[in-house]
Amino acid sequence: MKRVALLGATGSIGRQAIEIIDASPELELVAVAAGRRGNEARAIASKRRVAHVSVGGDPPLDALVEACAPDVVLNAVVGFAGLPATLAALEAGIDLALANKESLVAAGDLALAALERGGGRILPVDSEHSALFQCLEGRSAQSVDALVLTASGGPFRGRTAEDLADVTAGDALAHPTWSMGPKITIDSATLMNKGLELIEAHFLFGIQYERIEVVVHPTSIVHSLVRFRDGASLAHLGYPDMRVPISYALTYPDRAATPIPPLDLQAGLTLEFERPDEETFPCLRLAREAGRTGGAAPCVLNAANEIAVAAFLDGALPFPGIPEVVERTLAAAEAPRARDLADLIEIDAAARSAAGAVARELAAVSP
Ligand SMILES: NC(=O)c1ccc[n+]([C@@H]2O[C@H](COP(=O)([O-])OP(=O)(O)OC[C@H]3O[C@@H](n4cnc5c(N)ncnc54)[C@H](OP(=O)(O)O)[C@@H]3O)[C@@H](O)[C@H]2O)c1
Repeated sequence: MKRVALLGATGSIGRQAIEIIDASPELELVAVAAGRRGNEARAIASKRRVAHVSVGGDPPLDALVEACAPDVVLNAVVGFAGLPATLAALEAGIDLALANKESLVAAGDLALAALERGGGRILPVDSEHSALFQCLEGRSAQSVDALVLTASGGPFRGRTAEDLADVTAGDALAHPTWSMGPKITIDSATLMNKGLELIEAHFLFGIQYERIEVVVHPTSIVHSLVRFRDGASLAHLGYPDMRVPISYALTYPDRAATPIPPLDLQAGLTLEFERPDEETFPCLRLAREAGRTGGAAPCVLNAANEIAVAAFLDGALPFPGIPEVVERTLAAAEAPRARDLADLIEIDAAARSAAGAVARELAAVSP
């Protein structure tokens, strides 16, 4: 029996995780955390007799993790708010099923140091990283030539910068292949999601940015692939359904049955790939540059993006304002290396404040 602490239980990943946990006699829910939807979180907990519940940071997520002594923490909180739980799980050597990519992006160096001290594991939940994790398993680092992350391209694939000037949050939330929470859906529309994933892959697999490629694959059937030095490539294929990587991370190293059907190849399957358009969608380039700069630059990128996405969702910032807020915040930031969580929280707060000022300026001039 594995004891699971589920953080972000009321969200898109959280609800799918509950489905997986409820269906498995090997998984026991021992803690539930949510942000604003406290009633829903308490209902989830009381239905399953879960004693440990956190709502809106009460108790703090790191304290919750410590108190419930789980075998695995599924961190499905959205944004920087998930960072203390990521660090607490890693420091304690508890397996971390990681959906909250923002924590690894913002604090990659601190997270890897905590992982090493704690001696646990990170089991990626992001479908691309779950795919890479599986393709890489058992291979030597020297045999790997490159990682290839696939991107759906989001709802605006093929559009020009001019087309994007007045798209609304409603347009951006209509994702063609994945049904996800609002923040990641907007990240997917700007390609920032793939940028965050590029940084996430760098930290998870220890591969330099030069050897991580991004390719647009509109049907999201190939979840990612690894190129090896002998010319072979291994890919991970399946229908786009997050219950598969959630189940894999929670039941690892086993592979439990899920309700998702296997690929029906007889129905015909065409796999198309294309180069991402980084002119129209500059967030991918900005993320790659921040990753290469290192230090706290990815933390600044993430903070500015969270502010810009929230402003766009509120109707206070036009869509092209998202990369502009990120780019200007990064350009103005001094991004030293963070020695600890306190440093990083300070850097994150300063970046949020700077990004907010840029967003307000852009809102004031937008028609
Ligand atoms: N959705 C996907 O298919 C998918 C795929 C790959 C990776 N991810 C990653 O998984 C994470 C979650 O995504 P999502 O789509 O599930 O987001 P979501 O639907 O917006 O859910 C976010 C969850 O985080 C909780 N939360 C927010 N702030 C919190 C706080 N301060 N303390 C505790 N809980 C807090 C929310 O609680 P309330 O709702 O109660 O406020 C909610 O349960 C993100 O990092 C995303 O990038 C998602």
